Amino acid sequence: MDIATYKNDVWGQEVLRGVSWDLLWLVIVAAFIAIAGHAIYAATQKRGDKPSSEGARVSRHDALDRAYHWVMAGSVFVLLITGIFPIIGLEFAWLEIHWIAGIVLTVVVVFHILRSIFTQDLSSMKLGPADLKEALDDTTKPGKYSAAQKGMHAAVTVLTLLVIGSGLLMFLAIDSPWWERTNSMSEALLGLVFFVHGISTLGLVGVICLHIYFALRPEKLFYTRSMIRGWISKDELAANHDPQRWTPDETS
Ligand code: HEM
Repeated sequence: MDIATYKNDVWGQEVLRGVSWDLLWLVIVAAFIAIAGHAIYAATQKRGDKPSSEGARVSRHDALDRAYHWVMAGSVFVLLITGIFPIIGLEFAWLEIHWIAGIVLTVVVVFHILRSIFTQDLSSMKLGPADLKEALDDTTKPGKYSAAQKGMHAAVTVLTLLVIGSGLLMFLAIDSPWWERTNSMSEALLGLVFFVHGISTLGLVGVICLHIYFALRPEKLFYTRSMIRGWISKDELAANHDPQRWTPDETS
C-alpha cells in the first residue's frame, strides 16, 4: 500500500499530491486490534480492590487546564470530522468550519505552551530513563504522570504541532476574509504540506482512538473524572502514584 499519492505538475514533472487516504482504514483497523489486544490482556490480569473515590481529595487539574483540554478536544473533533468526512465521500461545506476550528486549536495550543512554560512544572511531563524502569517494574509508581501518559502526550504534541504548522500554510494558500489566495507555493511544496497535514491527521486518528479507550477503561475513569471535576481522592493517589514524586495540594 502506498503512503503518498503523486500527480504531474504544470511542467509535466511528477510531484507529491498528499498522503494516500487508503491508510485511514489501516490506521483504524490497527488501532482496534491494539485496543482489543489490550482489553483481552487486561481481562486476564489479577486486579486488586479499586481505590475509593470517597474521603479526602487532592487537586489534579486546575480549572484553566481542564477548560484547555476540552476546548482542544472539541476543536480536534470538529477538525477530524470536517477534514476526513469529505474525503470518505460525505460531502458538505466543510472548509470554513475547518479553518475556524483550526484557528481555535492554534490559539489554545499557543496558550497551553506559554502556560506550561511559565506557570507549570514541565519536568512532570518529561520522558526519561526512570520512565522505562517504571514501565517495566510494577512496584515503581509514577509521579504525576505515568510513562504511558507521558508517551501519549509526546505523540499528541508532535502530531498537533505538525498538523497546525501545515494547516496554517494551507490556510495562507486559500481565500480568507483577510487575504486572497496567492498561489505562491510551488505544486511540489504544496504537495509536501498536504502530505504532512494528512500523515499527522492519520497519526492523530490512531492516537485519539487509544486515548479515548484508555480514558474509558474502568480503572482509569478516575483520571477522566479529574479532567472534568479537577480532583482525585487520596485513596486513588496512594494506589496509583508515588507521593515522594508528586505531592499535590489538598482540595475540598
Ligand atoms: C487536529 C487538527 C487537524 C486535522 C485532523 C485536520 C485535517 C485535515 C484534512 C484531513 C484535510 C484534507 C486534506 C486533503 O484533502 O488531503 C484538511 C485540509 C485543510 N486544513 Fe486541516 N486539519 C487540522 C488542523 C488544521 C489547522 C490548525 C488549520 C489552520 C487553520 C487547518 C487548515 C486546513 C486547510 C486550509 C485545509 C484545506 C486546504 C485545501 O484544500 O486547499 N487544518 N485538514
